[in-house]
Amino acid sequence: MTKSFKLWIINHISTDLIQNQNLKSENSFTGGYMKTKLEELENLAKTCQKCSLWKNRKNTVFSKGNENAKIMLIGEAPGAEENKCGLPFVGKSGQLLNNLLIQAGFDPKQDIYFCNTVKCRPVKNDKDRKPTNEELHACNDYLQKQIEIIKPQIIILCGNTAVKTFGIKDSMKQIHGKCILKNGIKLFPIYHPRASVLNDIKLKDLKKIKENLR
Ligand code: URA
Repeated sequence: MTKSFKLWIINHISTDLIQNQNLKSENSFTGGYMKTKLEELENLAKTCQKCSLWKNRKNTVFSKGNENAKIMLIGEAPGAEENKCGLPFVGKSGQLLNNLLIQAGFDPKQDIYFCNTVKCRPVKNDKDRKPTNEELHACNDYLQKQIEIIKPQIIILCGNTAVKTFGIKDSMKQIHGKCILKNGIKLFPIYHPRASVLNDIKLKDLKKIKENLR
């Protein structure tokens, strides 16, 4: 597929979404419509070469969880395990996060749609690294389209990279567990499961988000 054709499809999805915003209502057509749009987007991501991360890609790591969930959780980037199996948060950080979510009272599979700021693993000398600004920029279209399609009430920004992607400049220390309203969506920054901060603090923030759902 040529680059211009891919761009055309991305623009087409966007226009289509704006024109069809009301389609995401309570009828059975809704689920099918959303699924198709997400599948189209995921298929584009699978062959994407907008930045150099595709060169190391074993699998595109698009999402996991419930597409109808009120909460979307955006992590940093896929690691080695995620690259191997094509799903976000399946490695050590994922297990930590899963435990914290359960302790906070969530049913992770049912309550949350998980994805990352970038869909391919950033790597240096065989080790995970943070995505660069260029990589974040290149992948941002996919993330924004995911948000448009899922229409979450709450977005959990898991870690500094996810926070940065939303143009938030404050430090995590200042904003973790607090609600930032943006375009009608409640953003909740939380520490990344890897962050060297007490689990009690991470848990308290997740419990606050759970309270906000009621
Ligand atoms: N796995 C992911 O998918 N994202 C992270 O941010 C960390 C681990």
